Amino acid sequence: MRIVRTVADLRAALQPVRGTGTVGLVPTMGALHEGHLELARRARAGTDLVVMSIFVNPTQFNDPSDLAAYPRDEARDVELAGSAGVDLVFAPDVAEIYPPGFTATVTLHGPIVEALEGAHRGVGHFQGVTTVVAKLFGMVSPDRAYFGQKDAQQVRVVQAMVADLNIPTEIVVVPTVREPDGLAMSSRNRRLSPFDRARAAHVSEALRAAELAAAGGISDAGSLVHAARKILHDNAIDVEYLELVDADTFRPVPVLVTGPAVLAVAVVIGGVRLIDNVVLRLAPHP
Ligand code: PAF
Repeated sequence: MRIVRTVADLRAALQPVRGTGTVGLVPTMGALHEGHLELARRARAGTDLVVMSIFVNPTQFNDPSDLAAYPRDEARDVELAGSAGVDLVFAPDVAEIYPPGFTATVTLHGPIVEALEGAHRGVGHFQGVTTVVAKLFGMVSPDRAYFGQKDAQQVRVVQAMVADLNIPTEIVVVPTVREPDGLAMSSRNRRLSPFDRARAAHVSEALRAAELAAAGGISDAGSLVHAARKILHDNAIDVEYLELVDADTFRPVPVLVTGPAVLAVAVVIGGVRLIDNVVLRLAPHP
């Protein structure tokens, strides 16, 4: 497994496989966990050469203290990436991605970037994500890129970006990997105190309650949200948002219909912001 730090070295390393095999990209900000490793394993199974980018992208952080607190441990990340079948780690520094004089941005519009994460982290968040992902796609030219369903809105935004910009990369969405108690894997989990780590399990429990309610035939958004909110409230968890949105448009849906909807949640537990979601559908008639 090789580590490259410049776009020139990245392109040179990819040259032998161009035209002969497929390239998979797993974009990450490091602090790898099982969720990332599952993306890497899927890329290993689905493409001939697997690139993982490790780059803590400053432009997608609205809060400088969040950026500063973001965990970084490249040596550990590289070892884990190798164990999951990554061939090449691309770990550039900030100036390689955003050289002096850099002014370009990739900006989408509408609810998919303005709702939920866009509303709470600011519209600059997804602009930072789409700009860096478009640049990574331009650098790697991957046949497939792998993203986790845990970041459901990010997945939808990246799908819209590749469609809008005619980028010939297939976006592969990989199911959320969870701890045994249901907590979605996240680099932020390691910042939870043991007490808060135990409480964090109630986030997936809340989503599960809504899922069970939907499976039982409840279809109005208010009741589904209430089922989840009650569990968060009973456990004194601060909710930033908890909303049922259309999985395609990210507009609020008042009632489940045939298409998939996403019940998305962001909470803050012990100062750590966590997100999770579940896809809900109308229960089939008995
Ligand atoms: O999901 C992430 O880790 C980041 O948003 C991504 C896709 C690597 C872009 O910086």
